[in-house]
Amino acid sequence: MCGIVGYVGPGMGSHPLDVVMEGLARLEYRGYDSAGVALVGDGSLFSEKRAGKLVNLQEALARDDVPDARTAIGHTRWATHGGPTDENAHPHRGGTEGKLAVVHNGILENFHALKQELDADGVEFTSETDTEVAGHLLAAAFERTGDLTRAMQDVVVRLEGAFTLLAVHADQPDKVVAARRNSPLVIGLGDGENFLGSDVAAFIGYTKQAVELDQDQIVTITARGYEVRGFDGTPAEGRPYEVTWDAAAAEKSGFDTFMEKEIHDQPQAIADTLLGRTDATGQLILDELRIDEERLRGVERITVVACGTASYAGMVAKYAIEQWTRIPVEIALAHEFRYSDPVVDARTLVVSISQSGETADTAMAVRYARSLGGLTVSICNTHGATIPRESDAVLYTHAGPEIAVASTKAFLAQITACYVLGLYLAQLRGTDEHAAKARELMGELNEVPEKIGALLTEMDRVEEIARFMADTRAVLFLGRHVGYPIAMEGALKLKELAYIHAEGFAAGELKHGPIALIEPGQPVFIVVPGPDAPNELHKKVVSNIQEIRARGARTLVIAQEGDQDVVPFADEVIRVPRTSPLLQPLLTVVPLQVFALHLSTAKGLDVDQPRNLAKSVTVE
Ligand code: M6R
Repeated sequence: MCGIVGYVGPGMGSHPLDVVMEGLARLEYRGYDSAGVALVGDGSLFSEKRAGKLVNLQEALARDDVPDARTAIGHTRWATHGGPTDENAHPHRGGTEGKLAVVHNGILENFHALKQELDADGVEFTSETDTEVAGHLLAAAFERTGDLTRAMQDVVVRLEGAFTLLAVHADQPDKVVAARRNSPLVIGLGDGENFLGSDVAAFIGYTKQAVELDQDQIVTITARGYEVRGFDGTPAEGRPYEVTWDAAAAEKSGFDTFMEKEIHDQPQAIADTLLGRTDATGQLILDELRIDEERLRGVERITVVACGTASYAGMVAKYAIEQWTRIPVEIALAHEFRYSDPVVDARTLVVSISQSGETADTAMAVRYARSLGGLTVSICNTHGATIPRESDAVLYTHAGPEIAVASTKAFLAQITACYVLGLYLAQLRGTDEHAAKARELMGELNEVPEKIGALLTEMDRVEEIARFMADTRAVLFLGRHVGYPIAMEGALKLKELAYIHAEGFAAGELKHGPIALIEPGQPVFIVVPGPDAPNELHKKVVSNIQEIRARGARTLVIAQEGDQDVVPFADEVIRVPRTSPLLQPLLTVVPLQVFALHLSTAKGLDVDQPRNLAKSVTVE
């Protein structure tokens, strides 16, 4: 939540503003309630900020007489303390003549106490934010120390909660100083210019050389370099790395929305996530985990921690991993995990799933699991993010940057990585027969990208149905087995994109209550397992379709090619290519994503930036 950009260049000009505005445009998915910038020239500080989307700030800047600058910071906000107004937008200024400006991502939990202290000293506040407190404290510390880095050191030790802070001061126009605790920050290294960002998207148009930071660190960037210190002033090192994607990957590539583009990226996301994880004989090789194989063989239970869409990937993983390894798998919503007094010990593998790697609830769950002695593996799409850094091991998904708030390609890449992990565990712990089965399923997984590609060319009818349903007030989704999390995901996509009441149910649960919701014309999507699914699953779901049809439901059936049993009971049949029952989620979710996208579009809503949401939930 909130996007932050910082820049220092070699000389005075308009370039710092251009860099920061471009960075904010790339980070807007992190929060879009308001936006602002501060520019520092020689001895002067200029700032502008506006409620609403970035375009409002752009318009305001076009009317301003914007001075040349050497240094700039920018912010795009997802409001926590204080509504989305011009006053509450960042940057916040502090000190004599407002010479200091600060932007913040996170929540300062002790801001009330600090504000009372500042009130007593006669400081006047112009916003309702927690951030303004940091601005005034930094300004006072700068007046005492005459140096922005020292000022940051003095202030951060007084702050509680989660924060990334970026500050500039008119009297030190050649530096941006930042601090981070439990909130993301990465350095970008240019040639004679340097950058800071909430993530690498902030500066990907300028450099692919990035530096990872640890918690509780302060970084000072100048045009010539950067310096990292602990909160106590101890010199520290960042970890340099190269970003593996380029600016084009974070653009719409001719699609109307990022979501549509990302749906079409899905075949590649799966292929890239599978790439390099098998040897020439088809055996899975996960050396990157760097976990002692004996320890993995000794795992007695698995707990998956995740939120939202990522938790549905975890639900799919449960069915697959339990079947392949016979290890019990439990799913915990990360924000509930700590409060359930979870059973975790050295033989528990705690798998976190997160696209951003910065979801605060998931990060806290991982820390808690480690404190209990659990072995933690992160499935993550963002190199060097907090969650993989704080886990014992990481299995990266390679979906590329996901910009639309609604997760699509990251979800499919997460499911793919879960399959890879499950098959690897099966191979490691099992017999030759298990290894052969793993090879066979990996072979089948490798065919999925092409099948999704084909499926995406057959979505015209789904688009039509979505347009036709623009006035629909409620939609239900049913599934069994791995179709159940897909029903949940279909409902979540519709809620977040089209603001329609949507519920996903396990089809077997219907008769225990939810069937009372069915009235004539009620649209219901049913995710049907293939006829070869075990335990008569297919037959049971076909019976569920009949039950709701008999009560007047409009049945929208997602079924495998060739499945004729559903035809008599379906108002619409949406076909997906054949694959093994456990791999079906990679295909059945696609029409539901396309449906939500087009229903949202038909309602004239903002597909990529739905109301009240932000891409990465970095506060608890
Ligand atoms: O970055 P993460 O994968 O940890 O995010 C988890 C959820 O916040 C995320 O999947 C959210 O549910 C999506 N907006 C759903 O489309």
